[in-house]
Amino acid sequence: MSQHPYVTTWGAGEYRLMAERLAPVAEAAVQAAEVKSNHRVLDVATGTGNAALLAADLGAEVVAVDFEPALLQIAQSRATESAASVRWENADVETLPVPDAWANVVISVFGVMYAADHVRAARELARCVATDGRIVLASWVPGGFMPAMGQALGEFLPPPPASSGPPSRWGDPSVLGELFGPTGMFVRTHSTQNLTMVFDSEVHAADFLVRTAGNAMAERERLTEQGRWSDLHAAVQSLVAARSQQINGQHRIDFQYLLATIAPAEES
Ligand SMILES: C[S@@+](CC[C@H](N)C(=O)[O-])C[C@H]1O[C@@H](n2cnc3c(N)ncnc32)[C@H](O)[C@@H]1O
Repeated sequence: MSQHPYVTTWGAGEYRLMAERLAPVAEAAVQAAEVKSNHRVLDVATGTGNAALLAADLGAEVVAVDFEPALLQIAQSRATESAASVRWENADVETLPVPDAWANVVISVFGVMYAADHVRAARELARCVATDGRIVLASWVPGGFMPAMGQALGEFLPPPPASSGPPSRWGDPSVLGELFGPTGMFVRTHSTQNLTMVFDSEVHAADFLVRTAGNAMAERERLTEQGRWSDLHAAVQSLVAARSQQINGQHRIDFQYLLATIAPAEES
């Protein structure tokens, strides 16, 4: 695995546990991408490798990229035969380590949406995909639970690095059209999907959401010293209370995301 000197907060919490809950979205993305055994697949912002490993299981040649070494290490150590055949690369989504038109399929599950420069990131995905290939993106939709949680946490965390706008822009198909139009690609299909997570209680839900959020966990010490860590927890718990449904004694949260396929305009 190549190394770049990134320091990110994504590895600070227990993201691995969140990735387990997000696995159905990687399955949906790989299925939407119609990955075949003779494909080259680029998984952008792979995290702990969910989509990359599924594509490798299908026999594809896979390059998986992320800028957080701690998550790449987890991905690499996952006990699947396919993990050894994936090329894991530590890099930014804006400078992907493959030649032009290398990939039949580019996938990013809740990944490229966090790029600092949205236009550059879209251009970079388009650069990597073959003229008869496709890009499949899963992105949280504006107003959904995850963006709302980002807002709630934002009250307690340092401002995020400058970026082109909120990550959930990528969850709006018209914004995807604007981002990819200049690259000669268009949004071929899109649908809003739902991922449901079920928890025993609102407290369990809030605990899970906080401990899997690296940006929150990275600030835990400072906020504890300031006596504000419990306020952060309370804010997430209020959000859970406002947006979850209680069914048969369990608390269900719906996370809405956009699943979009983007293809070169030449493809019929
Ligand atoms: C919500 S996680 C999704 C991970 C994985 N795709 C999944 O489905 O579980 C977001 C991932 O994006 C990565 N990431 C965020 N910004 C990035 C950037 N600019 N370059 C590379 N990776 C980035 C983070 O390190 C993290 O692994």
